[in-house]
Amino acid sequence: MPRLDVRITTNLPATVVTFSKSERLEKAVHFKEISLSGGLLTGLPADPKTQFSIILKLPSQEYIEFAGEQVKSCHGNSIVKFFFPDKKAMTSLWLYLSGLSIKQEACPYCGQGLTGKNESCSICGQSLMFMDDSYLDKHLLATFSERVQTRLNKLDAGFIKRVLSLLDTEIMDLPDQDCKEEFVGTAPSLLEVFSMIRRAATTDMNILILGESGTGKELTAQAIHEKSLRKDKPFIVVNCAAIPEGLLEAELFGYEKGAFTGAYATKKGRFELANGGSIFLDEIGDLPQGLQAKLLRFLEDRMVERVGGKSGTKVDIRIIAATNCDLEAMVGNSCFRKDLFFRLNSFTIKLPPLRERGDDKVILANYFFKKFCKGKHTSLIGFSDSTLKAISDYDWPGNVRELVNKVRRGLVMATGEYIEPVDMELNHKPHSAATVKIQPDAQRQKIYDVMMQNGFVVAHAAKALQVSRPTMYSLIKKFDISVPG
Ligand SMILES: Nc1ncnc2c1ncn2[C@@H]1O[C@H](COP(=O)(O)OP(=O)(O)OP(=O)(O)O)[C@@H](O)[C@H]1O
Ligand SMILES: [Mg+2]
Repeated sequence: MPRLDVRITTNLPATVVTFSKSERLEKAVHFKEISLSGGLLTGLPADPKTQFSIILKLPSQEYIEFAGEQVKSCHGNSIVKFFFPDKKAMTSLWLYLSGLSIKQEACPYCGQGLTGKNESCSICGQSLMFMDDSYLDKHLLATFSERVQTRLNKLDAGFIKRVLSLLDTEIMDLPDQDCKEEFVGTAPSLLEVFSMIRRAATTDMNILILGESGTGKELTAQAIHEKSLRKDKPFIVVNCAAIPEGLLEAELFGYEKGAFTGAYATKKGRFELANGGSIFLDEIGDLPQGLQAKLLRFLEDRMVERVGGKSGTKVDIRIIAATNCDLEAMVGNSCFRKDLFFRLNSFTIKLPPLRERGDDKVILANYFFKKFCKGKHTSLIGFSDSTLKAISDYDWPGNVRELVNKVRRGLVMATGEYIEPVDMELNHKPHSAATVKIQPDAQRQKIYDVMMQNGFVVAHAAKALQVSRPTMYSLIKKFDISVPG
């Protein structure tokens, strides 16, 4: 049976990058054979199932980086399979492969038929028109459908759905139907974030995401998980600030039956539930001191010890943490453990605030406008020129979340064809979080505005106003503010 991929014999140098206890290790290797789906390498230690990053320097002087996994090794050679983070890296490798394929005398699929000027191989029938612009797309689709066909009777519906989604997003460049949110941005600082996400995703390092409220920390954590080899395994979110201190340990580590009053049955914690996947520890700055020590122990040995348990269970998870607190300052005043900070901080991604993202403010506003209008009958055309200017000039203390809410408001309030500044409440300067002081006689409108900017999430509004959550609840009660819809 012919191969499904063009495979060429070569002597291509590459670098394999692994991470051990957050230390980056590089090893020079050589590809003896390479295709789009994998290759035969020399120079790797015989350690099957190892995952790593592969950096290839192509003869065009272009560097491409993607993830790989060692499938098998024998006699100093290793068979590895590739995972591409995006179509760009795959296309670059294809340009290299196709350039060499046309020079080969034998068909690079079956190794028997002659290439010459033939359009297709006389033995296996595969197309040999490698330099045709659409070759890669056509060939990959044919390859995928053939692979799916041969496995069809072994696949369940969920798996078929994932394969289809992969075809759409990775090869056809269509938006992923399952993907709830798109990550939009063109500002250089955000492009740098995207590049860090791609680099971080291929490793197993702990990631710390920093950024003001509403800048996209959760979106970043999701993107890292979805671009990693763990993407088909669970992505578990734990908001350390939202779970009462007394319950957090049991929630994270689980508990044994009878560990405390009310523990009627043994329950797995979120670390165990995330096994094989990633856990997102949001608002890590709010983790109580006692749990900081337990988390540190877990990060060191990856053993989950349930509350009331006598032994631990080993789990394999990637840790992503996020906060909008100044963790370094918290370390300085002993509110956060220094050793835990360094453990979590192996790789830091800092999200820029929206006010520093230049044209992205308008790009995002247009993106959300189109997204919210999709499939709805509306006579609205878009934002007026003065609204676009107001969007650019506004300070956006609530960042992207506030922008989302203001666009929603604009859609509801606009009466003409265009959304005007007043419809989005952009005709006055925002109240900077630092300058708002809640006085007993504060205007109801002021509280309402902040709630609105923060999507009526009490914890976020409280943070924006720099008051505690209980204070926020009493203000909401006092001014009788209810959540719309
Ligand atoms: N670049 C972006 N493109 C599209 N949507 C975005 C972007 N950044 C943020 N959002 C959207 O803004 C909202 C807030 O994002 P997210 O929850 O990730 O922020 P956060 O930093 O975790 O906020 P918080 O600190 O308040 O928890 C979400 O609805 C998210 O989908
Ligand atoms: Mg968040």
